[in-house]
Amino acid sequence: MVLLDGKKTANDIKEEIALEVSSLIENGQKKPHLAAILVGNDGASETYIHAKVKACHKVGFESTLIRLDNSVSESELLSEIKKINNNSDINGLIVQLPLPDHIDEMKITQAINPQKDVDGFHPENIGRMVLNIPTYLPATPAGILELLQRYNVVTSGKHCVVIGRSHIVGSPISILMARNTNVGNCTVTLTHSRTENLKEITKTADILIVALGKAEFVTEDMIKDGVCIIDVGITRVKSTVTKSGWKLLGDVSFEEVKDRCSFITPVPGGVGPMTIAMLLKNTLKSAKKMIY
Ligand code: GUN
Repeated sequence: MVLLDGKKTANDIKEEIALEVSSLIENGQKKPHLAAILVGNDGASETYIHAKVKACHKVGFESTLIRLDNSVSESELLSEIKKINNNSDINGLIVQLPLPDHIDEMKITQAINPQKDVDGFHPENIGRMVLNIPTYLPATPAGILELLQRYNVVTSGKHCVVIGRSHIVGSPISILMARNTNVGNCTVTLTHSRTENLKEITKTADILIVALGKAEFVTEDMIKDGVCIIDVGITRVKSTVTKSGWKLLGDVSFEEVKDRCSFITPVPGGVGPMTIAMLLKNTLKSAKKMIY
């Protein structure tokens, strides 16, 4: 079994980005600049946003964090987005999800200038992704592709089963794995909460991508020997063993399945760090005007 080490790969990518930033600056260009909007104080979102801001500084980017109260109105949030859309010093803008219930997530996503949409969530960028036109790919699916590519996992002609159909991970990764591209050319089955006979399907997977957000959902009886498993889940549960009293679990029962896999991502240290590295890569692409 080969561990797909997302932490190490993400650090390699960050070093590559830092080198590119140095050469941009040597050529008299500005540092790439990412703006992030965080609404409210959801614990997980706070953690993710701080990790993103920290990563910006590590690679030499400028970052701006805009914190808004949970009670902010939709129109106030829209006007913050407009200001950043019009600010030519800022290359990328993300609005951390989820948003409070009184705000229409789709409306917010569509308000972001597609040229600054480094999360790749805007319908224009999703459309470009489907048509294989250069675009900002959503960061988590892009991180999965990058891991598969850097570890030379063969995908062409393989059966890829995806569990979960979220807008952020399951739906886009199922499209990307089926495209006629270097990492791609899979036969893809997208499964979800209404799928019948799930176990029969997952047992035929050569590549199994799990993104449903249920701790240790995939068990030993659901896989075949030699499968490559990508575990996107991350759930915090109480622990009597760790110092902090908490531990992180993926959507896959790692200890049960690991010896039967060809490749597997750990949790933590698998897909999570890759998401942040790909967000930085998208921001660099924006600064270098590589997409639009
Ligand atoms: N919430 C969970 N994942 C993401 C992400 O990749 N981007 C944003 N903006 N919010 C998220």
